[in-house]
Amino acid sequence: MEEKILKFIREKYEEGDFKYHISAVVKNAMLLANKLKADKDVVEMAAYLHDMARSLNRDDVKEFVNENEHHIEGAKQSEIFLKELGYDKEFIEKVSHCVLTHRGRGNIEPKTVEARIVACADAMAHFDTFLDLFEVFLKTTDSFEDAVIRIEKKMQRNWEIKLTLPEAKEIVKDKYEAIMLLIKSMKEYI
Ligand SMILES: [Fe+2]
Ligand SMILES: [Fe+2]
Repeated sequence: MEEKILKFIREKYEEGDFKYHISAVVKNAMLLANKLKADKDVVEMAAYLHDMARSLNRDDVKEFVNENEHHIEGAKQSEIFLKELGYDKEFIEKVSHCVLTHRGRGNIEPKTVEARIVACADAMAHFDTFLDLFEVFLKTTDSFEDAVIRIEKKMQRNWEIKLTLPEAKEIVKDKYEAIMLLIKSMKEYI
């Protein structure tokens, strides 16, 4: 990734979001891309761009996080961004598909290995930078207790639904078990 392009991408994210989420998604996506011999350029670009239409700094953050369609808007914005930078049509389409399907929601399924990798890496990032989720969830829930419960559900969903590649599960297995153990212990006091 060219330094100039990386600088453009960085500017699209809030600093903490880039540091604790995007960079962790990129790291895990590249691990999987190497293991599965996927197209590394597509995977890297899509990992960097996948949340470009999601901002946690908005005033209506509560509603926005719950209801937004940032994968759809993000796919459109990625296409415009990459076109402006002069990337070819095929590359743009491949990256855009990864961005569109990264949430694994609805009937928009990842159709390529690169898209599956980005969706998995998106979930894997939450295991790497787990405590950052509290920062996000405390802003979007009414209480600490509510945040704990919602984080537990999110981590279960990540593990059971989003980690569709066995290679991804294997990489984060220890962290998943540790996180669930600590949440279970905390819940005895809630
Ligand atoms: Fe996202
Ligand atoms: Fe993400």
